[in-house]
Amino acid sequence: MRKKHAMLAAGVVIALWAGQASGAPRQEPIQPIEAAVVKDPAKVELGKKLFFDPRLSRSGAISCNSCHNLGMGGSDNLKASIGHKWQQGSINSPTVLNSSLNIAQFWDGRAKDLREQAGGPIANPMEMASTHELAVQVLNSIPGYRAEFKQVFGKDGITIDEVTGALAAFEETLVTPNSRFDQWLKGDDKALTVQELAGYTLFKNSGCVACHNGVAVGGNSFQKMGLVAPYQTDNKAEGRAAVTGKDADRFNFKVPTLRNVALTYPYFHDGEAATLTQAVDVMGRLQLGRTFTPDENAQIVAFLKTLTGDQPAIQYPLLPPSADDTPRPAPFVK
Ligand code: HEC
Ligand code: HEC
Repeated sequence: MRKKHAMLAAGVVIALWAGQASGAPRQEPIQPIEAAVVKDPAKVELGKKLFFDPRLSRSGAISCNSCHNLGMGGSDNLKASIGHKWQQGSINSPTVLNSSLNIAQFWDGRAKDLREQAGGPIANPMEMASTHELAVQVLNSIPGYRAEFKQVFGKDGITIDEVTGALAAFEETLVTPNSRFDQWLKGDDKALTVQELAGYTLFKNSGCVACHNGVAVGGNSFQKMGLVAPYQTDNKAEGRAAVTGKDADRFNFKVPTLRNVALTYPYFHDGEAATLTQAVDVMGRLQLGRTFTPDENAQIVAFLKTLTGDQPAIQYPLLPPSADDTPRPAPFVK
């Protein structure tokens, strides 16, 4: 009886899925995101705890989620982040959603992958303002973490490599499949409105896809900000030149992903564009030498909004309590 029920349910699922795909998958310069395959669920769960744990910061108040809020598209929706002792960050916080798809991490690509990246903010005096030694000492003092790290890594004693490895494993699960645009890519003609489709056609034909393409609609190359006309900003960031030392790389930034871009305002490395309308206008003029009419701009914005996918379903983790000898948080130290 129960078996028959399960078979029926499976049949319904297949029928629904078939009903959705009214055509064949499309060949486009943008490809759909696939759901994450979790290889090591215990490691992912540990990484999730660390992502939400403010004890990785000197103040005991700032976690990764403070600046990459998973309820707000993996960003903080601020021009520049607020770090240790309310310090003003120097650059806009990019989303952690789909960041595993990036060619490298940070606006200038100075970290080669998520593991390398994750060590940065913990020890950055402007951000979490701890040190790797202190963060590891804190974790090692917490019995719940000692047991969980041992279970995941099969040995006693926590290291910073294990911390960044677990954080990266969690971040790899933060992909956002099934956006309406992906449904359309997979063949569902009804997934987009006429205006949204017109926006995509304009996005493609006017040349946005030259830089924003692939699965993440960006994230896969470094490009000049201000290709046709220079970009004016007070922000000090040099872009890729800070990594390569080459003058030709000045103002080259990692092309941001446009996945979930409706959620990750404000825009650009300096956070100066408050709205998508503004960002699209700047991109048209400075990257393509083209001024969009208000209608055209609205079409592209409508298309960009279809790139919002299923957000990771996060159950807020319970963090193991500190012990008597856990180094105490120091929110106000000099
Ligand atoms: C105080 C705010 C703040 C905190 C806390 C913070 N970040 Fe970030 N994060 C940023 C900013 C700002 C950048 C961009 C810096 C740059 O490019 O120079 C960034 C960049 C990143 C990136 C690169 C994304 C991309 O597209 O290049 C990842 C991944 C990331 N952070 C993960 C983390 C993790 C994991 C933690 C916790 C260990 C963390 N962040 C803590 C603000 C923060
Ligand atoms: C020559 C490459 C190039 C072209 C063409 C291009 N972009 Fe961009 N795009 C970039 C780069 C690089 C950035 C990051 C610039 C910065 O932050 O200073 C960016 C940023 C953006 C952002 C802000 C994303 C964020 O999270 O901050 C949006 C939105 C955007 N582009 C849309 C478009 C649209 C729409 C078009 C076509 C009208 C377009 N882009 C054409 C390279 C390009």
